[in-house]
Amino acid sequence: MNASFATMWAELAPIGRDARTGGYRRLAWTPAERECRSWFYGQAQSRGLIVDADGNGNEVAWWFPDGAPAIGGVVTGSHLDSVPDGGGYDGPLGIVSAFAAIDQLRSRGVLPTRPIGVAAFADEEGSRFGIACLGSRLLTGAVDADRAAALRDGDGRSLPDAMRDAGFDHQLGESQLLGGVAAFVELHVEQGRALADVDAAVGIATEIWPHGRWRFDIDGEANHAGTTPLSDRHDPMLTYAETALATRKKALLAGAVATFGRIEVLPNAANAIPSCVRAWLDARAPDESTLHALIADLLAHAVRRADRDGTALQVTAESISPAVSFAGPLTDRIRRVLPVAPLLPTGAGHDAGILAAAGIPTAMLFVRNPTGISHAPAEAATETDCLAGVDALAGVFADLAV
Ligand code: GLV
Ligand code: MN
Ligand code: MN
Repeated sequence: MNASFATMWAELAPIGRDARTGGYRRLAWTPAERECRSWFYGQAQSRGLIVDADGNGNEVAWWFPDGAPAIGGVVTGSHLDSVPDGGGYDGPLGIVSAFAAIDQLRSRGVLPTRPIGVAAFADEEGSRFGIACLGSRLLTGAVDADRAAALRDGDGRSLPDAMRDAGFDHQLGESQLLGGVAAFVELHVEQGRALADVDAAVGIATEIWPHGRWRFDIDGEANHAGTTPLSDRHDPMLTYAETALATRKKALLAGAVATFGRIEVLPNAANAIPSCVRAWLDARAPDESTLHALIADLLAHAVRRADRDGTALQVTAESISPAVSFAGPLTDRIRRVLPVAPLLPTGAGHDAGILAAAGIPTAMLFVRNPTGISHAPAEAATETDCLAGVDALAGVFADLAV
């Protein structure tokens, strides 16, 4: 493996890794994520890159060409945070590959004529505060500062307090961090098996499916599990369970995917009927009308079930991401640089989607994941494929910024 890639990967590998599960716990503004940020600063510093940061926790390490005005930058990068027990590649691969691509250009004596930036966006996964791509949404104004300031994690800690706990002097809201950027190209591990199936190391994204997260708050009546007749119960677990089963069926029929991956139960006791179940639905579909129809159908179904169970249901849309198409001149140009790379859509969300929605010319590269598994410890990429990704990124930089 290329020395710089291997060294960087080895430095990041132990940070936030849970020895029991083998997964990563680099949630936003936790000590592990902070350590990743320090690593990012160290990499930038060791290469003489200038780090520009905003008050949302987003950072860009710039390689400015000598004597040229700092406009029309070409930025790559991704995120350093993870889902709970996530894989090591989702996010960090894009950042490590970016630094390695810069190293490759420099070792070849290539000098950019436009600034090249390596971005690390804050809280892409939204695992702690509920909103996916929170850093890039704040940066672009897709989420307003007041809404973000009111977000709380599972322990009730607010986002501003969590940022303060991490020693970060926050200022939430739109920023000029990417002002003047001509192109953003995010490299990411593939989160499915499409590249493995066609035996290709690197692919080019065509689109991101529209997707979102909805929080279901289902209130019932706490009572004794042994003495309360079934007919007298107002059990929110039943409303949740039946809704989860219906979700699977309805998603299948719609050609969509939908998942309840997180629930909280109060009081969470084996011998008590719960007073409340809070559950998060993640739903994604190939187009927006399918997604919205699925959600409307599911909500109506859940309301009917709550009625039957005598529970009270409230649904809150926490994070909605419209469909993103990467079709356009930037992707066309990348296709000319990487003519054999297959094209593929993705059901995963990315900061690239947020930047594209904000009008920045944006494209994505994917690196093969032989397991096809992601958001889990079995996520993988071989050294050879990672280096193919670095070569691809270096080729894109050479085309766009040299
Ligand atoms: C992010 O990885 C998402 O798709 O949820
Ligand atoms: Mn990611
Ligand atoms: Mn992810």
